Amino acid sequence: MKRFVLALSGILLLSSVCSIGQSGSTPNPKKQEMIELQACAGAALQGFRPIAETRAQRFNGKVALLTALCRGGQKAVQYRFTPWVDFTNYWGTGDLSSLPKGYFSTSIPQLRGINGALFDLEYQRIELIKFNLFDNNGTYQDYVQGRDGVVGAAIKTWPQMRLPPSNPYYEAVGGNGEQLCKGGLIRARTLTGICNDIRNPLMGSTGTPFARNVEFETTFPDLEQNQLTKNRHGGRINLMTPDPQVISRKLFTRAQTAGNGCNNGFGSPLFSTDVNCDYQKAPFFNVLAAYWIQFMTHDWFSHMEEGHNAGEMMAVGCTTQKVNGVETQLTPEEVQKLGCRPADQVDKTYVLQDSAPPTFTVGDRAFMMRAPKTFSNNNTAWWDASQLYGYDDSSVKRVKRDPNDPAKMLLEPVAGKQGEYLPVLGPDDLAAPQWMGQESAAFPDNWTIGMSFYHNLFAREHNKFVDEFRKQAAKTPNADSGLRNPSDPTRVIRYKEVSAEELFAVARLVVAAEIAKIHTIEWTPQLLYDEPLYKGMNANWNGLLGTGDPDDSKILADIVVKGFGKSKNATKESQWYSVFASGPGIFGLGSKVSHYSITNPDNVNGGVNHFGSPFNFPEEFVTVYRLHPLVPDLIEVRDAGKDPNQIVEKVAVIETFEGKATEAMRSRGMATWGLSMGRQRLGLLTLHNHPQFLQNIKLPRLDTPTQQLDIPALDLIRDREHGVPRFNEFRRQYGLRSLRSYDDFVDQHLPPDSQQRKDQEETVKQLREVYGTHVCDASKVITDAQVNDDGTPINDCLGHPNGSVVDNIEDVDTVVGWLAEYTRPHGFAISETQFVVFILNASRRLFSDRFFTSSFRPEFYTQFGVDWVNRNGPGPIHMEAGTPNGHKQPISPLKRVLLRNVPELTPQLQNVVNVFDPWARDRGQYYSLEWKPRAEAASDPGFQQ
Ligand code: HEM
Repeated sequence: MKRFVLALSGILLLSSVCSIGQSGSTPNPKKQEMIELQACAGAALQGFRPIAETRAQRFNGKVALLTALCRGGQKAVQYRFTPWVDFTNYWGTGDLSSLPKGYFSTSIPQLRGINGALFDLEYQRIELIKFNLFDNNGTYQDYVQGRDGVVGAAIKTWPQMRLPPSNPYYEAVGGNGEQLCKGGLIRARTLTGICNDIRNPLMGSTGTPFARNVEFETTFPDLEQNQLTKNRHGGRINLMTPDPQVISRKLFTRAQTAGNGCNNGFGSPLFSTDVNCDYQKAPFFNVLAAYWIQFMTHDWFSHMEEGHNAGEMMAVGCTTQKVNGVETQLTPEEVQKLGCRPADQVDKTYVLQDSAPPTFTVGDRAFMMRAPKTFSNNNTAWWDASQLYGYDDSSVKRVKRDPNDPAKMLLEPVAGKQGEYLPVLGPDDLAAPQWMGQESAAFPDNWTIGMSFYHNLFAREHNKFVDEFRKQAAKTPNADSGLRNPSDPTRVIRYKEVSAEELFAVARLVVAAEIAKIHTIEWTPQLLYDEPLYKGMNANWNGLLGTGDPDDSKILADIVVKGFGKSKNATKESQWYSVFASGPGIFGLGSKVSHYSITNPDNVNGGVNHFGSPFNFPEEFVTVYRLHPLVPDLIEVRDAGKDPNQIVEKVAVIETFEGKATEAMRSRGMATWGLSMGRQRLGLLTLHNHPQFLQNIKLPRLDTPTQQLDIPALDLIRDREHGVPRFNEFRRQYGLRSLRSYDDFVDQHLPPDSQQRKDQEETVKQLREVYGTHVCDASKVITDAQVNDDGTPINDCLGHPNGSVVDNIEDVDTVVGWLAEYTRPHGFAISETQFVVFILNASRRLFSDRFFTSSFRPEFYTQFGVDWVNRNGPGPIHMEAGTPNGHKQPISPLKRVLLRNVPELTPQLQNVVNVFDPWARDRGQYYSLEWKPRAEAASDPGFQQ
């Protein structure tokens, strides 16, 4: 009966809302508001939706009618029928235009909208943790079946995470018996990442396999290893089909204004400001942000080893295209017209395992124990600043320590430049030939001006920490530093007793935590520039209760108490945990227990949670970080010593690659590059926006006829080699709605006659040309990850009539798909598909790391280090002026790092709130995306473009 009343009231409310909008008369906002309030009451009666028990019941980011009406009014209702998530249409989740007009108040609907969005995000995270963890180490059977009476999601140790006898620390952790890291192995981050989890020493260490976030059976779709993938792709796809270089040239190339001098992305050899390379720009994100994420990926993962792949060469396409739906050889004329290169070759990816995976059965269902092929992550998976400090025996040799003070990194003066710089690799250093001339760094591959900037910056920060620590030690030599040696735990280590070796390790912990903090509360809220994500990211770090906003603690209370407190299904601790963590924040979780002892493994390790699946990044994570469109072809150089509004040169990015980056850094200096990259907008992540220079890059390391590569095409090839499912199945696996045709990419929010919409429709035609269409067969079921709304299986016709011609939307490469997503939440530089991958893995890399949870303690970081991380540097917290977007907040962590290490930038940073927002942009009010200069930058030509 309750259901019937609710359904009826929903229909009545909806019809009244629609009639308000369609009657031709001006909608009456007050009446609309009343309807929304009734909807809220109705939604409250309906109660919270349960956490899905099966994949088919997942939330998919789509809410019920009354909930949509309550949180976003008519707009939220209107777009419920698109495949895209609903929260983006709620009140207050955009700029000022997302607030209602003429309502009794704007703040109440805004609160409903933003709280609603936070609810949705938490539901997504819980279900992602529940359905998307697939470990490739052999633990998956236990995850599914449980072990010794413990459900899989609650298992905390795995035999597969023991150190093998070949590991030099095998005996030290217990050898053949129970393995437990102790003593020197638990004090700080280890070179290869072992002993982060002290009971699972191998976890996250260098050389362990990438995980997966999708069912193993759905990986490697071109192998057609089961009926579902056969039905899904109908024999249409393989490593080179559709042709990756053809996709790159037709769908990725940046269009150029004729005669702009772009020169295939290579600009002018004289760095003339008269040339230009067109690109689509994101108004709220700068080039520093582009390089930041490259800097991060160099910490998190690498498929390559010392700058190369597996050795065996392969062709990389530019051979066929679809003509009337049939793959047809390209003629030489077509090759020339496309601009691709059939003679390009590259070395194949390294494969760790490719034997048939063992299987197990539960009931009548067979499961693979791992993916058909696995690949090793040749970096530590931990967020441990390993790109700076090393991750194996070779990389650590490039980390140079100051012989006069081994607590410090070696830095040297450069003539005529303020501050010190990293030394350059010498002939005796262990380095691949292509790295010669670069700064010496643990992770030197694909070295860019951005890598040079951040490596120098954080080497300076490391040394700054050491200097400030020593100042403190000079002031209070006999005070307790907080540091403890687990081998001699009761001994107080006074400031003056902290050795250079200990201080180096502490500085690394601090720098790694600062980087994680910058990424979580500065880079990400600018990448996802809206209010729900500002709150969500700050909650991940500080906790919802830690933001100081009483509304936030109310949200938490609602989520936990009303939402899950009454659930009968909340038996699995993993579901609860992520929700509870929203309260205190993930960072520091488990570090504040009473009677904490460094000798108690349950204290040291107690804050971590792997949710039943050992931590490593999944292949799917690498896919969504293939962000090459962020990079412009030319960098607009502004001289920090002169008028910052003047572009003095336009330097091709390729002229700042590998050794040339170091040359450029040393000749112009950190301040000039900081200013230049801080002011310039980065490239939008969208189709037709890849840098041309990356399509034509010359890599002399390749012993091939052209020595050239199309990196955007290679992104597709690598994903295919790694068996990443194609876009639609990828979305279904992550709990998002799949698309029914290429037309679904077009943003329905745009007016039908707008140029933007016409451009999108044009791209849809190109997608159809490249990926094609086929006559569908409704008897072919294509997935077990989701079902249609009416509970029927999703079939080859995707809801279209049997036998009709449908788009090959199932074949679209995942990178192409997420680039084609024109419908995005406000201020999102990434798409919602990338975002879900991020929700899961960004949380996990904090949840799983004891140095960010229960070992974030003075015993490891020193008290000075803990304070440095919490307060963004030495001394007290410095507060930002004003209340940007309505928030009182500390000066951002990266701004503080820049102010103390590149002080020449102080005047430029004066009005900067977030270092990743273009520095001269007027941020306007409430999450404005306008490209407008602040008064003092009115003459900057960057604002005339
Ligand atoms: C001048 C700028 C850049 C250049 C020249 C460059 C070049 C390359 C090259 C040569 C590869 C190796 C391809 C292979 O053999 O598998 C690669 C991989 C990759 N790049 Fe870039 N890149 C640049 C910027 C970026 C940026 C800004 C990002 C942002 C996240 C990025 C993310 C990646 C990722 C995720 C991979 C795959 C790495 C792996 O599989 O382990 N790159 N890039």
